[in-house]
Amino acid sequence: MTGARFSVDGPTPLRGRVRVPGDKSISHRALMLAAKAEGVSTIRGLSEGDDVARTAAAVAAMGAELDGDTVAGGSSRLHEPDAVVDVGNSGTGIRLLAGLCSGFPWMTVLTGDASVSSRPMDRIAGPLRQMGASVDGRQGGRLPPLAVRGGRLRGIDFAPPVASAQVKSAVLLAGLEAEGETVVRERLATRSHTEEMLRDAGADISVHRVGRGLVVRLKPSRLRPFTIDVPGDPSQAAFWVVAACLVPGSDVVAEGVYVGPGRSGFLDVLERMGADVDLENRRGEVADVHARHSALRGTVVAAEEYPGVQDEIPVLAVAAALAEGSTEFRGAAELRVKETDRIATICSELGSLGARIEPGRDSLVVHGGGPLEGGSARSHGDHRIAMALAVAGLAAKGRTDIEGWEAVGTSYPAFGDHLADLAG
Ligand code: S3P
Repeated sequence: MTGARFSVDGPTPLRGRVRVPGDKSISHRALMLAAKAEGVSTIRGLSEGDDVARTAAAVAAMGAELDGDTVAGGSSRLHEPDAVVDVGNSGTGIRLLAGLCSGFPWMTVLTGDASVSSRPMDRIAGPLRQMGASVDGRQGGRLPPLAVRGGRLRGIDFAPPVASAQVKSAVLLAGLEAEGETVVRERLATRSHTEEMLRDAGADISVHRVGRGLVVRLKPSRLRPFTIDVPGDPSQAAFWVVAACLVPGSDVVAEGVYVGPGRSGFLDVLERMGADVDLENRRGEVADVHARHSALRGTVVAAEEYPGVQDEIPVLAVAAALAEGSTEFRGAAELRVKETDRIATICSELGSLGARIEPGRDSLVVHGGGPLEGGSARSHGDHRIAMALAVAGLAAKGRTDIEGWEAVGTSYPAFGDHLADLAG
């Protein structure tokens, strides 16, 4: 397959208002919980990316009935899928679906693209097996495809060895069908969408904060149908926010963005860097994020902050490259097992535009001061690397060509159109 190329001329200021796609994490969960709920749920504003489209197709293959904004689910509709379920590029899709399918007394085979096929699944296979599911895959279940045969589960008391919302969520989704209580103890709290959405769908669930971590307790539960307006994805808003901070003359408002727990850490980091960013029109956990050009300085992003900023590190690295002084991202080993090894791809691709970045085993040190020069760089099939490169291109001098642009389709197909609108 020959990839698509996207070119950006810089420096280009961005001005105006933008509505980013619905949050990807919430979208996956909304579809899976609606498939479990006994009746018809309404989901408005789903992410438009391929990852979420794959999850929609997956729950449809399991018997959920999708029609416009509605999903009819429940035990009388669900059945063994006829064919292998393909999650495409989505790590969240495969890990959460493995948890969901562990609750079903039949076989589901889950596969994905080359990137997903190289990502570690033992982190979910281990606890799901402890609960009583049969989970097999390549290398003894360490790699996809995964064959999950569920049913007859028992609750476990589990402390995930990595801070991962996907692991927590897989265990909780299985826990809906387990006998007895399922407990997940996180040393560092990760995004809380699954717990919150399970509670809103009537699950018997409690959450207690313990220091920086939390303990979630779930009893087997039947879910009731729900209505949700999926808020804008903060991980996508981050691209526009950083671009606005970096390019003189910029003034951007990303509308209706989720700013709740575990997702707005990038705003704290940018604030420490001196960014001119405000939350406006706040309603609950949703706000408009207003960003203007500002002089940035380096900072240290501590290991404890990692779970709350991880998806934004590619674009924060662009901000850091143009800030005064150095920025260090610590405790970031998990970046090595994302859609790409992001420690490597951030270094090589931003490096090819002139950024000076030192990789560590579990860290990145970005030496700021710029400037960035236009050039040629590659996404490596990673949507967040592609979009971070576009932001770098907006701030760089000259033309930047990004190879492998089609990767943005996994989470933000309209990114190029939105860029043209804001630059116009
Ligand atoms: C996600 C959790 C995070 C994040 C991913 C989405 C989720 O992954 O990087 O983009 O929706 O649960 P980990 O669970 O691997 O930390």
